[in-house]
Amino acid sequence: MLIAFEGIDGSGKTTISTRINEELERRGIRSHWTTEPTDGPIGRIIREVLEGRMEVDHRTLALLFAADRMQHVIQLEDLLEKGYTVISDRYLLSSLAYQGCDLPMEWVREINKWALLPDLVIYLDLDPALALERVKEKQLFHTLHKLRSIRANYLSLIREEEWSSRTVVVDASRGEEEVFQTVLNIILKKLEVV
Ligand code: TYD
Repeated sequence: MLIAFEGIDGSGKTTISTRINEELERRGIRSHWTTEPTDGPIGRIIREVLEGRMEVDHRTLALLFAADRMQHVIQLEDLLEKGYTVISDRYLLSSLAYQGCDLPMEWVREINKWALLPDLVIYLDLDPALALERVKEKQLFHTLHKLRSIRANYLSLIREEEWSSRTVVVDASRGEEEVFQTVLNIILKKLEVV
């Protein structure tokens, strides 16, 4: 099973997804945590752009995310075949929500068409002003205006049939423990171990 964590920057994806991975392992479930952008060569170029050390056109950045995802998917397919539950900190929906702000959504969909769909998406929903308070280092998408558009995109995308059937929205404004327990219950139910 492929489980993707999505949400705007500062919504707590990394904290919650790594804790979920540890908890699943503790319960004897073969689980593996991954992230996008990856720590591979294309992911490293992406980070140069996000951190302002390199500038590229929006279309180039969208293609870099798609190329990075291609490498990620090759790894995912191998893990899924081996029977792992994979927890991905960001995946396909990030490209639609983020790059869809700067580019035609249909084009972003097209360049990611080959990517396998996640079985479950945990969308951590948070007010952009709160999210911005939580993020430490400033990156490309860290402005209130940007985060508002990205959140609007997420909320509109997860209403589409392809996504609504596989997405659970979790209120990420509550304390970490409460969010963690909520997400854990959703995932255990999906894995049918409760
Ligand atoms: P990262 O430092 O991993 O953000 P965080 O840990 O806060 O989630 O940087 C990922 C950034 O890249 C984040 O701003 C979202 C953006 N992004 C896209 O724009 N498109 C994508 O397809 C992906 C995977 C990420």
